[in-house]
Amino acid sequence: MSIRLATSADAAAIAALLNTLIADRDGTALNVSVSSDEEADYLRRLQQGGLCLLAEEIDVPLGFQSVEKLGPELGEIGTFIRQESRGLGVGRLLLEETRRWAQGKGITTLLAAVAAHNERGQRAYRAWGFTEASAGLLETLGHAPDSVLLEFRTD
Ligand SMILES: CC(C)(COP(=O)(O)OP(=O)(O)OC[C@H]1O[C@@H](n2cnc3c(N)ncnc32)[C@H](O)[C@@H]1OP(=O)(O)O)[C@@H](O)C(=O)NCCC(=O)NCCS
Repeated sequence: MSIRLATSADAAAIAALLNTLIADRDGTALNVSVSSDEEADYLRRLQQGGLCLLAEEIDVPLGFQSVEKLGPELGEIGTFIRQESRGLGVGRLLLEETRRWAQGKGITTLLAAVAAHNERGQRAYRAWGFTEASAGLLETLGHAPDSVLLEFRTD
């Protein structure tokens, strides 16, 4: 398996992966499928201060992890692994790379907003070292009552 920066050229592959999860209501709040063009726009926006890493096995995308910058030292993370490749540590490996990138950018805290009913998502993030977001963060950001906010210190 290899991990590399995703670019807008990966938009179709990432949209296809995401659309499978959207159709299955599997770990995403999105309920309408995304087009390749929309995904390409999103990836271009992420390039301005954020990150999208793609894990792949001989050109087959296994999953991706993105970070949107919320503030100088704060980013919001999302992780989407295709169903056949879960429980193999792909998400954890992506987080190791994301953490290195965040340290280089001075991002000290990664925030994950996980749906309250998404137990697998919460379990995975907690297994990777995320903990309940501090009261200060909750106050600054506010959050939907049906989601759980978890934070991860990158240092
Ligand atoms: C949540 C999600 C990102 C986790 O990704 P993943 O690559 O499966 O995660 P990992 O494999 O690193 O770890 C998840 C579990 O597999 C276990 N695991 C890790 N490496 C393993 C290995 N080599 N063999 C067996 N199990 C392993 C971990 O211990 C963890 O188990 P636990 O949750 O029972 O403690 C993935 O399930 C997913 O994409 N879900 C849908 C989208 C979603 O919910 N995203 C989160 C909100 S943004």
